[in-house]
Amino acid sequence: MKADSAPRPTILVLASGSGTNLQALIDASRQRDFPGEIIAVGCNKPGAFALERAAQANIKTFVVNHKNFGSREEFDGALMAEILRLNPDLIVLAGFMRILTGDFVRAFRGRMLNIHPSLLPAYTGLNTHQRVLDAGDTTHGVSIHFVTEELDGGPVIAQAEVAVTKDDTAEALAGRVQQLEHLLYPIVVRWFCEGRIQLAADGVLFDGEALSHPMRLSDS
Ligand code: GRF
Repeated sequence: MKADSAPRPTILVLASGSGTNLQALIDASRQRDFPGEIIAVGCNKPGAFALERAAQANIKTFVVNHKNFGSREEFDGALMAEILRLNPDLIVLAGFMRILTGDFVRAFRGRMLNIHPSLLPAYTGLNTHQRVLDAGDTTHGVSIHFVTEELDGGPVIAQAEVAVTKDDTAEALAGRVQQLEHLLYPIVVRWFCEGRIQLAADGVLFDGEALSHPMRLSDS
């Protein structure tokens, strides 16, 4: 088989909202040399714009509506069944606003990424932009990490920083952080598909070496 016809790793994206990160990944995956293929987009909210973006790109979609399930375990079980059927090499959480159970996370250990709008380990959870402003921080940013059972606590692969200005608002800050998200996520997904990043027992391996600190946008 010729090298350029080797199958590319398959990617399943989970989203809940507008899907701007999904769009950045779709756009990147259209580049001829992109080493992965987005095979499906899953969503927990019927009507989310992320589904529309996927449909426009001719990517298969599915919805597992969390409101149809009585418990987190049942929802995760149904989501897992969909994912196992599609059997992707990588799951990319792109604004997927559901906390996943330990069983789910363990099932996909080392092949699930998340993007979080803060410089982790600072500001896990929600409302990060406002919390950064309230604390008077001068820098903020975005992190991409492997998903582990600890919420927003898995080993960080890469980060990008923005400066917080004197008159910033949460909306303005969110906009600047999102611009970086759209640059950084495709880079990290590319690294994964090229086999350059792996989750080890105690952190991230990059090109086989333990990563002592997260990669920066400038390192890519
Ligand atoms: C992003 O800001 C991401 O960091 C957070 O949720 C948001 C998703 O936005 N986890 P979008 O749906 O990709 O536009």
